[in-house]
Amino acid sequence: MLAWGLLFFLWPVTTATQGCPIPCTCQILETMGLRVNCKGQGLTALPVLPAHTRQLLLANNSLRSVPPGAFDHLPQLWSLDVTQNPWHCDCSLTYLRLWLQDHTPEALLQVYCASPDFVTTRPLGQLTGYELGNCGWQLPPSWAYPGVWWDIALVAIAVLGLALLAGLLSTCTEPLN
Ligand SMILES: *[C@@H]1O[C@H](CO)[C@@H](O)[C@H](O)[C@H]1NC(C)=O
Repeated sequence: MLAWGLLFFLWPVTTATQGCPIPCTCQILETMGLRVNCKGQGLTALPVLPAHTRQLLLANNSLRSVPPGAFDHLPQLWSLDVTQNPWHCDCSLTYLRLWLQDHTPEALLQVYCASPDFVTTRPLGQLTGYELGNCGWQLPPSWAYPGVWWDIALVAIAVLGLALLAGLLSTCTEPLN
């Protein structure tokens, strides 16, 4: 009877902590979901996180970036500590920045960049989209195609023609004033 009771009590604990990533420790929260603590483990990449992760502690690691979409499969995640990591603040960190902005905007001022040079010692929350860069998005290649320049030339001629017409009309109406 006691054994069954123990099993009943422990079963949810073991299943919930089963997917705990290797260097981290996991703990079930009263509010359901999991607190995954990976503090100070020297991580250079995100561990594989259980789907019911609710709190994630990644402070004091060697993380430089987070792959875009990294937390999209964690619908319960609402608390994320990513302080004390050597974040490389370029366009690839835009996902993390937006995630924090949506969930815990105050945390953005405690997350500091370690590189590149021109953003070091600045909190991620202070960087503009321009400073984070555009990840190599370029104008569509069709801009390099000469046909486009023909279209632009035609538009320019049309605008010039309209301007001339407007000029003519205004000189015609001038004597009336
Ligand atoms: C950060 O983690 C290292 C181990 O990786 C530990 O020695 C150090 O005390 C930790 N620092 C803080 C501020 O927690």
